[in-house]
Amino acid sequence: MTGDSHEDEIQLEPLEHEIDRPQLPGRVLVRHDPEDLYDALASDLMLHSANCVRQFGDFHLALSGGRTPFPLYERLMYDPRFRIMPWRRTHLWIVDERCVPFESELSNFSRIKEVIVDHSDIPPEQVHPMLANSPGSAERYERELRDTLGWRPKGHDRLDFVLLGMGLDGHTASIFPGSPALHATDRLALDVPAPTTSSPAVPRCTLTMPMLNAARFVAPLIMGADKCDVLRRIAAGASPDELPIAGLRPVAGELRWYLDAAACGKA
Ligand code: 6PG
Repeated sequence: MTGDSHEDEIQLEPLEHEIDRPQLPGRVLVRHDPEDLYDALASDLMLHSANCVRQFGDFHLALSGGRTPFPLYERLMYDPRFRIMPWRRTHLWIVDERCVPFESELSNFSRIKEVIVDHSDIPPEQVHPMLANSPGSAERYERELRDTLGWRPKGHDRLDFVLLGMGLDGHTASIFPGSPALHATDRLALDVPAPTTSSPAVPRCTLTMPMLNAARFVAPLIMGADKCDVLRRIAAGASPDELPIAGLRPVAGELRWYLDAAACGKA
């Protein structure tokens, strides 16, 4: 290549293996292009759902709200490669909910319903919204989890695949810094007050950290340059009380982070 070639001026994107990935607990998958990241996560979801249906006859999936995962949810519905998703055998749970009426645009589950439930053949009795806007929601959800998962063989009575996001204060699900949901070993779900470190400032209901850590596969999906610093702090050993997502340590499951290059500090 000559010195005056235009190719000299082209800024090549770093290859995936060249991206300096944060040293997080578990495995870290990085894709430069968000579309490739959604594809990788959707493929892993297909694989796990198929394995669980083969092994247990059903698949227990817990999804997150927030903005980040919605393009993935849409892709699961419209991309022909993901039509094999066994929705008829899937139980759909949610990791957290805001205490707002179901029709509110702040309701995590109503948005998931619009994108997934209304367009899949998932049986209604396998759809498990958190009715966070009425008293006792955490106890009710806990009972529903125990009753439904209790049909499975002992030791397998846990969620199969949990998709998580992360806020700028390090929260995941609705487990905020210093939350009792971090250490509540006897509870699967908890009602929690409105966060002071994140918006919208409404009380919430959330699965607890021990419940998340009991899952077979835990998949935090984190994208965007604004999340980079938090990931670096986790890699540097921040405590779960400071950054709750640092408390993810599946007991007998796999933790796999799905990051885009921007979240790893590469624009
Ligand atoms: C919620 C979520 C929450 C979310 C993070 C990240 O109810 O808001 O379940 O845990 O995943 O706040 O949100 P973004 O994807 O919008 O950054």
